[in-house]
Amino acid sequence: MRFRRILFCATLALTTLSARAQENVITINAKKPGATIQPTMYGIFFEDVNYAADGGLYAELVKNRSFEFPDHFAGWDISGRVTLMDDGPFNRNPHYVRLAPPGHREKHSMIENHGFFGIAVKGGEEYRFSVWARVPDDGNAKIWIDLVDNATMEEDQKLGNVGLDISGKMWKKYTAIIKPKRTFAKAHLRVWGDGKVTTDLEHVSLFPVKTYRGHENGLRMDVAQTLEELHPGVLRFPGGCIVEGTDMKTRYQWKNTVGPVENRPLNENRWHYTFTHRYFPDYFQSYGLGFFEFFQLSEEIGAEPLPVLNVGMACQYQNGDDAHAPATKEGLQQFIDDCIDLIDFANGDPATNEWAKLRADMGHPAPFNLKFLAIGNEQWEQPFFDRLAIIAPEVRKVHPEIKLIGTSGPNAEDDHFHNGWKAMRELKADLVDEHFYRDIQWYKDWMNRYSDRTFYTKDGPRVFVGEWACHDRGKKYNHAGASIYEAAFMTNIERNADLVHMATYAPLFAHMEGWQWRPDLIWYDNLSTARTTSYYVQQLYMMNRGTNVLPTTISLNGGTPVANPVEKGKDGVFASAVIDKDKNEIIVKVVNTQEKASTTSINVTGLKLKTSPSTAELITLDCSNYDAENVPGKPEVVSPQSSTIAITSEKGTLTLSPTIPAKTFQLFKVKL
Ligand code: AHR
Repeated sequence: MRFRRILFCATLALTTLSARAQENVITINAKKPGATIQPTMYGIFFEDVNYAADGGLYAELVKNRSFEFPDHFAGWDISGRVTLMDDGPFNRNPHYVRLAPPGHREKHSMIENHGFFGIAVKGGEEYRFSVWARVPDDGNAKIWIDLVDNATMEEDQKLGNVGLDISGKMWKKYTAIIKPKRTFAKAHLRVWGDGKVTTDLEHVSLFPVKTYRGHENGLRMDVAQTLEELHPGVLRFPGGCIVEGTDMKTRYQWKNTVGPVENRPLNENRWHYTFTHRYFPDYFQSYGLGFFEFFQLSEEIGAEPLPVLNVGMACQYQNGDDAHAPATKEGLQQFIDDCIDLIDFANGDPATNEWAKLRADMGHPAPFNLKFLAIGNEQWEQPFFDRLAIIAPEVRKVHPEIKLIGTSGPNAEDDHFHNGWKAMRELKADLVDEHFYRDIQWYKDWMNRYSDRTFYTKDGPRVFVGEWACHDRGKKYNHAGASIYEAAFMTNIERNADLVHMATYAPLFAHMEGWQWRPDLIWYDNLSTARTTSYYVQQLYMMNRGTNVLPTTISLNGGTPVANPVEKGKDGVFASAVIDKDKNEIIVKVVNTQEKASTTSINVTGLKLKTSPSTAELITLDCSNYDAENVPGKPEVVSPQSSTIAITSEKGTLTLSPTIPAKTFQLFKVKL
């Protein structure tokens, strides 16, 4: 018995000793707040890849609504006497359909749209059908609009329907509300004539009445809500490679995306055929979600708008150095004008500027307060440098107030990258866009990336981490096991807020049935959305950005306290801390990427407190199950969990003593 007691005491002593030996000490100096954290620091990257616009965020439910796809009836079934016509009321979308009497009282002329992977409707909700129509021979006609479930075992396929009277030979817009009786993700929209009078139909459209902030040409409520709830500081738009296009002809041209939606010309979507192993022949850009909608959304979710425009070059991956506009002022004039006119569209005075007037006519007389413009997406080497060297000074002459963003190419460590940075320094870019989709080992190797002040100098451009994500083994929609490295990497971004002014995880969206690129931040199907673990990492940073960095060190097992003691390429404990002077709180972010828990003490020093807080809010994101993922339509498996943790205080130092579980991101919020 005595022997067992001695053994027990010895084991206890050993355990305590080894626990102490493993203890990490994080020390935060609150006395001298450091660099200001830019409001733009954590943001989002929107590109129309993975059906992010049409079929995604944009709430239009009809595909090929203007009959302008190269196969004019793509997305439609037709029956009876339906003819394609090409002298419609919208010069940039001239096609429309003619429904003629089929020649027998029991026959009908009809068109039926399949939507994007079906048309999702919710029982009892209202849907606004609209169409431009006329009776070419004059007189009156009736059309019927049905939402149908083609495969139902019920007697009637109709989920809801409504009739519309069309009159006269002038084109007019008609609208009607349909209320489906039940929820169905894969309905079709049928429009059919009364069989007696020829009727012409153009721009056949269906939107939920409930869109984000109620705009008629609006955004899908649940999808836009995921953005609002993120609280992003900046919204980059419209990409991505889509800015460049597969060729110059199909590059993104913002001027085609503004004005009445009926007359925005269709463009190809380069992701339609970027990957032959994931081919989407019906992927086009209606531009219904265009630059006005982008500025409006940015304003509504409180993000700074960050447009990216073409630099006179098609995608270099797909064209080498051929298919570009000539690198002369004349050759690039259109691209210079595009930049200047876009700034005027966003900020100009409607009384004196035609582009600003268009903005006002579209419903936003007040300026959008654009502050940044990126020129060129993922360009590299001399062809890019030569063109930017012509465009940037011309834009600066007219709009010196706008911060211009250049790029360091598609890789974050190669020669293109280094040459890119050298050129951007010479051209005096305000910020440089860096891209890195990399695996876990790369992130472990680069955990000190922005602490390297021999490369990133004080007087050079600031950093915009424009596209980044941790990609890893296995084909997942998003990896919890990789998100933890994103959280850890962001401690380095945050600690270096004097240098890094923006970081936007990419890509933003993916449709479960239409993706080309993964992982992505937010997934959806036709009826529901899923916030991934990476989403929650971003959200925790965005919602706890703070106003200033606080100097932070970590001492591992009694070792020297430094900003990041973890050996390059290894797992460990990473931390950063900020103060929010507006909310009067200190926020500490700690990420343990190891397979084991870490006993840690967090000391916040240098405080002058009247009363000491006795608890802190603790938010935990557990990424220990590598394969865990949140999927649309299924219960969430990983999400941040809130609790409280005790604080002790002594002589202006607050101490928290958490155990940070393996593969976990924890955030501690102390209200002062
Ligand atoms: O985010 C997907 C693509 O990755 C972007 O279009 C491009 O800029 C990068 O190569």
